[in-house]
Amino acid sequence: MSVRIAASILSADFAALGDAIAAAERGGADLIHVDVMDGHFVPNITIGLPVMRAIKRVAKVPLDVHLMISDPDRYIEAFAKEGAAMISVHAEVLPHLHRTVQALKDLGVKAGVVINPATPVATLEDIAGDVDFVLVMSVNPGFGGQRYIERSDVKLREMRALLDRARNPAPIELDGGVDRGNAARVVAAGARVLVAGSAIFHAPDPEQATRDLRDAAEQGLASQTLHV
Ligand code: DX5
Ligand code: ZN
Repeated sequence: MSVRIAASILSADFAALGDAIAAAERGGADLIHVDVMDGHFVPNITIGLPVMRAIKRVAKVPLDVHLMISDPDRYIEAFAKEGAAMISVHAEVLPHLHRTVQALKDLGVKAGVVINPATPVATLEDIAGDVDFVLVMSVNPGFGGQRYIERSDVKLREMRALLDRARNPAPIELDGGVDRGNAARVVAAGARVLVAGSAIFHAPDPEQATRDLRDAAEQGLASQTLHV
């Protein structure tokens, strides 16, 4: 499986979202990552359904919705109806995670579960066989532009091992502090969908930055192939 780049519009100019999305797509972004924050689960408030609707109208690639909200069960249907292809929910807020994952699948979207930096990989032990993808947070959620937490490499390897034990080829998405400098390393550790916000949208040329990120990521894939 190859590496996919998910451009996180959190770091884009919200007054010109359409242009930002188009630039990332020209650079080869495979997904547009939509960070939904409620000011409750995380300190920040960002994008809601009306903005999601507008993004869906202009985006050519699938939308990957990351729900950083306290009550995702209340909103997953609405985000699915607005055209999300993938929705990820945080394990930390869901006492009935299995039910939520099934609900996402019933809505016809790819079901993802996210864990925060302080949440152990083992939290997903009993759901590992059911997920369509896992999202490993490599920063504490809430803001773009934070520094990659180094231990995330270890978590990627542990998460891949957990999914493999469950015989689930589901890809691992990585979110937070990903840039050209660490892309190869995180891919070698098992990440297959790289979320990038500031590395793309704070670059002088977001289109070229998207391309550069993919090139760096693919080097990680090549190094991994050589070592197996
Ligand atoms: C953080 C969000 C991320 C964020 C990543 O809470 O979930 O998707 O946009 O931004 P960078 O790539 O700048 O760390
Ligand atoms: Zn995110």
